[in-house]
Formats: sequence, structure tokens, C-alpha cells
Amino acid sequence: MTSSLVVVAATANEHKLNEMRAVFGHEVELLARPDDLDEVVEDASTFVGNARLKAVAVAKHTGHLALADDSGLEVDALDGDPGVESAYYGGGDHDDGANRRRLLAELAATGSEDRRARFRTVFVLAAPDGTELVVQGTCEGRIGDNELGSNGFGYDPLFHPDDGDGRTFGQMTDAEKNEMSHRSKACGALIAAVREYGAPGGT
Ligand code: IMP
Repeated sequence: MTSSLVVVAATANEHKLNEMRAVFGHEVELLARPDDLDEVVEDASTFVGNARLKAVAVAKHTGHLALADDSGLEVDALDGDPGVESAYYGGGDHDDGANRRRLLAELAATGSEDRRARFRTVFVLAAPDGTELVVQGTCEGRIGDNELGSNGFGYDPLFHPDDGDGRTFGQMTDAEKNEMSHRSKACGALIAAVREYGAPGGT
């Protein structure tokens, strides 16, 4: 990439936009999601399926390259749950506290000592002509017994990344999280893929 790639973000989540903008730097300029686009129903059964639904909707609506992410937490002792249900695992819609409480309860119910887990982010960069680029990033770690820290969002207070110093994501600054997060790795993979293959749609 010689000049920055301009793409429309499919997310309106400020935490995620800030994380992505910090990692992309000047290489990718993320424009805000248009206000006049209705919420996209994310009813696919995979991260890539949901990211594609969002990216294609924004690319069609705007006529520009669109970048959508879909992320979640995969817990080994729960056979990969909550996975694509991460946002509403606790019953509500993006009720982070309820999601974390259910996660701890489900883990306790297994009786397993296995606390291995990973965050996964899939990005779909979609062009209005129907072509796309798909990349992902993962962050390995383990689920703690208690919530620690109040930074970030979602499952951050329960997640101890392997690449860290024992603290949860919730105890880290945004910059510390960005050094190892699934989302920042997906950003790096996107930049590398666009350098190698070019952006979809021939831009
Ligand atoms: P989304 O697809 O990126 O909106 O993520 C779905 C859900 O996964 C979120 O509502 C969070 O519960 C969880 N999640 C995704 N990324 C993170 C993260 O970086 N930290 C904590 N939770 C996350």
C-alpha cells in the first residue's frame, strides 16, 4: 500500500473503532458507518458469515469498500461457546455483565479445570462489485475465576492473554491491549493481505 486505503466501517462501536484506528495508523482510513443504514441482522452461524452480511450491506449501501468485523470468545471447556453468541450469551443484547456471569456459571457447571480460551476476530473487506478479502486474528489466553479491571468491554475483565504479564485485558490500557489483541492481529493481517493481493474491487 503506497497511499492509505479508504474504507467504510460496518461497526459503530467506538471501542472497536478506536482499537482499529490505532493499529491501522495511516495505512487504512476508516470512515464512520452511515447513520441512514439499518442494523444488519447477524443470523449466520459463523464469524465469517456474519462479517460478510455486514460488509456486503455497507458496500452496497455506500458504493465504497466496506470493512466489517465479527468477533467472539471461544472457550475450550465449553466446546467453543459462546462463539458467535458472545454478544448475547447472558440473555440480553450486549449485556456485558450478564454475559460474564453466565460464562463463569457455565464453566463452574462443567467441573473442568480447563480455562483455555481465545478471542477471534474475522474481517471481511467487501467491494461493491461482490469481491472480498477475508482475514482473521486470534489471541490465546485463559478465563480467570473473578472479574479484574474495568477497562475495555465485553469479556475483558475475565480474559488473561498468554502474551501478557498475568493481568486481564480489563486491567490493561488500550495501548497494552492493542499490542496483543485479536483485533489488532486481524488489522495487521488485513494490511499484509492488501499489500500482497491488492484491495478487492481493484482499488
Ligand atoms: P463483535 O462481533 O466484535 O461485536 O463481538 C461480539 C461480542 O464478543 C462482544 O459483544 C463481546 O462480548 C465479545 N468481544 C469481542 N471482542 C472483544 C474484546 O476485545 N474484548 C472483550 N469482549 C470481546
